Amino acid sequence: MADNFNVRLDEVKYYTPDACCKEQSWIGDYNRTYQAFLADPDGFWDGIARELDWFQPWDRVKEWNYPYARWFLNGKLNITHNCLDRHAHSQRRNKVALMWRGEDEGDEQIYTYRQLHQAVCRFANGLKRLGVGKGDRVCIYMPVVPEQVIAMLACARIGAIHSVVFGGFGVNALNQRIRGIEAKVVITADVTYRRGKAIPLKNIVEEAVVSAPSVERIVILRRDTDKPVELHPEMEVDYYDLTEGVDRECPAEPMDAEDPLFILYTSGTTGSPKGIVHTCGGYTVGTYYTTKYVFDVKDSDVYWCTADPGWITGHSYGVYGPLLNGATCLIAEATPDYPDPGTWWNLIEEYGVTIFYTAPTAIRMFMRVGEEWPNRCNLSSLRVLGSVGEPLNPEAFEWYYRTIGKDRCPIVDTWWQTETGMHMLTTMIGEPMRPGFVGKPIPGVVADVVDMEGNSCPPGTGGLLVVKEPWPSMMRTVWNDDERYRKYWNTIPGCYTAADLAVKDKDGYIMVIGRSDDLIVVAGHNIGTAEVESALVSHEAVAEAAVIGKPDAMKGNVIKAFVILKDGRQPGDKLKNDLVYHVRMTLGPIAIPSEIEFVQSLPKTRSGKIMRRVLKAQELGMDPGDISTLEE
Ligand code: PRX
Repeated sequence: MADNFNVRLDEVKYYTPDACCKEQSWIGDYNRTYQAFLADPDGFWDGIARELDWFQPWDRVKEWNYPYARWFLNGKLNITHNCLDRHAHSQRRNKVALMWRGEDEGDEQIYTYRQLHQAVCRFANGLKRLGVGKGDRVCIYMPVVPEQVIAMLACARIGAIHSVVFGGFGVNALNQRIRGIEAKVVITADVTYRRGKAIPLKNIVEEAVVSAPSVERIVILRRDTDKPVELHPEMEVDYYDLTEGVDRECPAEPMDAEDPLFILYTSGTTGSPKGIVHTCGGYTVGTYYTTKYVFDVKDSDVYWCTADPGWITGHSYGVYGPLLNGATCLIAEATPDYPDPGTWWNLIEEYGVTIFYTAPTAIRMFMRVGEEWPNRCNLSSLRVLGSVGEPLNPEAFEWYYRTIGKDRCPIVDTWWQTETGMHMLTTMIGEPMRPGFVGKPIPGVVADVVDMEGNSCPPGTGGLLVVKEPWPSMMRTVWNDDERYRKYWNTIPGCYTAADLAVKDKDGYIMVIGRSDDLIVVAGHNIGTAEVESALVSHEAVAEAAVIGKPDAMKGNVIKAFVILKDGRQPGDKLKNDLVYHVRMTLGPIAIPSEIEFVQSLPKTRSGKIMRRVLKAQELGMDPGDISTLEE
């Protein structure tokens, strides 16, 4: 991280966007809107929620019983009614809702709002056939295809709780998540395509459900029609067979605002990943609002969020937020540099993308390969650029602003988390942008940088980024582990602690520096040190392991592992490769260490806890800080 950041707080550098983008934006004047929110927070959210359709209005906007919030009490709605019916039964009926592009040019599917509505209803009826109903959990482990989005919406339609698992996760990670939610059904595909190769998914699912007795059925989307995979009829059913002969209509289940909508796993600092629970009412309002106001979505926009729906960004800003706003969304099963680094820019030109949302790691990769790739394309359709997942360092900001945005497009660097459900900090459109800084809390959010006692840090002094008031799309609990939920609110009294280190400048702009805990953000994805360590230790040659994040110019961080071998095992390159392969199979390719060092011992506290901080300081040649608890 340090390598990517060289911002001087006293060196004030702002980019001031064109005045007309502020005048024409939904948000208008940020300060005025923020003050209006502060004057009447409940009134603010009430007004936003009224822009959506509810089957029954709420009695109260919120109830705050620290640290538990309930929003839109007794309100009844269905997010898919708001994503689909509202548009399919209006003049947006024939508007394109979803455009999908595969790796090959000919691979394209387009759904209007009417068609998407119908596809979701049919699949929802198919799920009902399998006995799936309100409150049942469904695991979705699929590539980025329209059926992935349809499966999510179909679950939400009937009140089943979906839990999407990123298609790049391995057997153990998938098994842990299926068991965690006690999924009744798993929806998957035969293969995912990456870099021209078909990567099988079905076999991973088959292995992952072996010790998951809750799973009754597996639904399989068979993409490879030349060689259709064989199905085991007692357990497996074809995605499209399931919808054969079903009704085209499926009424949206009226959901209580506080009913769970989905569970999404995110890495924890210790042990198992956490199933973050989001609810129907607050999440709908939060994602609708932020998509509209942060990205300034208008009816004429073509919107592309490059995140896989397996991550929260894909949930909130790839699927729900844009559909709630009736936008035309592009999704792509496309690797940024395959077949060449011009792929994404070609898609922007071809589809006339106007709003583009991606991650700093991708931007840095494109910077490295050179601006000749974007310069070959006509990117003049773009009007808003977004960034998420990790700090957007000033060099990457400037490149994005100049080379992609041609000095015209505002950049919204959005800070938020799986747990927050929606954007929390950004520089709203029309406000001066400060490279390296995400910006300020959006209207609706009260956030600050504080010390361990909760006191506001003066400008220039680093502290913890916290949120001080509840917000509609905040997670409600950690699935089956409420203790872990309370921890978020107990670390600093009265505050939600995000575990990010940050610093404010004199104008209140916030710079997010990185994690304060044992999570490593690799290419914008959170990886728990504990998860990688336990994957390593599950290899028969490993006695102990510790992993740290090392700053990397492109990925933000990479993983370095320190490994103690069992007696009699010989270190060497072959074993290193075996360990990498083992982690790939266990957790998936995103978690593999890029460096492995065999060591004789690890720095530990007297109580036996590995001091990763000391390892990291050693590795980076830095001061390890307080080592008074270090074992002899
Ligand atoms: O460390 C912060 C970083 O990503 C973490 C949240 O990760 P996750 O739950 O996977 O969600 C990622 C997408 C919302 C945060 O605690 N992070 C996210 N956005 C930014 C960021 N760091 C700096 N700048 C951002 N814009």
